[in-house]
Amino acid sequence: MKKILLIPLMMLTMMPMAACDGSNADPILPEQPGQPGNSDGGDEDDSTNPTNPIPGGNGRYLVLYCSRTGSTERMAQQIQQTLDCDILEVEPQTPYESDYNGMLNRAQEELAAIRQGNYPAIKTSVEDFGNYDIVFVGYPIWYGSMATPMQTFLHNHASKLAGKRIALFASSGSSGISASVDEARTLCSGATFTETLLLTSSTLSQMGNRIRTWLETLGASRENNYPSTSTNVKITVGNRTITATMEDNAAAQDFLSRLPLEVTLNDYNNITEKIFYPSPALTTAGVPRGCAPVPGDITIYVPWNNVAIFCKSGSQSNDLIKIGRIDGNGIDALNVPGNVAVKFERQ
Ligand SMILES: Cc1cc2nc3c(=O)[nH]c(=O)nc-3n(C[C@H](O)[C@H](O)[C@H](O)COP(=O)(O)O)c2cc1C
Repeated sequence: MKKILLIPLMMLTMMPMAACDGSNADPILPEQPGQPGNSDGGDEDDSTNPTNPIPGGNGRYLVLYCSRTGSTERMAQQIQQTLDCDILEVEPQTPYESDYNGMLNRAQEELAAIRQGNYPAIKTSVEDFGNYDIVFVGYPIWYGSMATPMQTFLHNHASKLAGKRIALFASSGSSGISASVDEARTLCSGATFTETLLLTSSTLSQMGNRIRTWLETLGASRENNYPSTSTNVKITVGNRTITATMEDNAAAQDFLSRLPLEVTLNDYNNITEKIFYPSPALTTAGVPRGCAPVPGDITIYVPWNNVAIFCKSGSQSNDLIKIGRIDGNGIDALNVPGNVAVKFERQ
């Protein structure tokens, strides 16, 4: 890590930051200089030179981060240590400038180039994210935006990250994270984004507590208390908790990998089913089809890619895939008129 220059936090909060409200505006330089010399971040999914993360004991999570002066790196390390998971630094091809003003100029040039679709080159690429339940993505805020190396990384890996849960975290002098969240969502439109964590110069000292609480909210823990083979799900419906047991098939595994998941179940066919549409759709390729649903069955209706939880029995259909079943008489909690907000979590 290149801790060449530790920016005094005071200086940062006093910087004429464009984006203390998290907006994309960038009034620091009235004119953008020319584009950076090396502005080709590589094609989508360019994995010519994959970099291996440093493995932890817990392979369910990956922490990716970029950091120039070490604040985001400390957040990344704290997350890694709490979860005992894999970690990887995303590094620019050309090392960060040690000169502060030079760095500001470079960042502005690179951000301007990105707006034109030219991503500055980075050294880091990842072969695949297959085993990770959550990919943590950390970066400093530069002019209200996500630091450029991480923008390049997300740009280069967008299709590999499709379907993954991404947990964004950032550090800043005082700016908000919202503009960078929008950038990430645009760059990786196929991914699901969780709650984020931002530490500013005034909250950096609370790092330990803030990260612990955040990880709890995400349901991420180092203990293997819900191993990926677990098929048990807790469903919170209002103030009632019911449980379900998932099937041992790829569609159910995909569903489990999305948890925790909060959705609104809509009524279908006069409370025969409660349905929602996972985005992206759950994988159904190669999963055996056919189900004669009874109350409590959790299914996918393949033509529409919706999840349908049966409150009443339905006709046998080869378009249904059973992915689980609500335990006992728990289905009573859903067998009510109208839309129902629920939260699915692993048990
Ligand atoms: C080029 C550049 C632009 C920055 N822009 C902002 C900004 O818009 N808002 C802000 O609050 N802090 C800004 N900062 C401060 C950093 O976001 C903050 O110091 C962050 O914690 C640095 O993280 P790092 O130590 O991981 O590099 C900027 C810093 C640099 C180097």
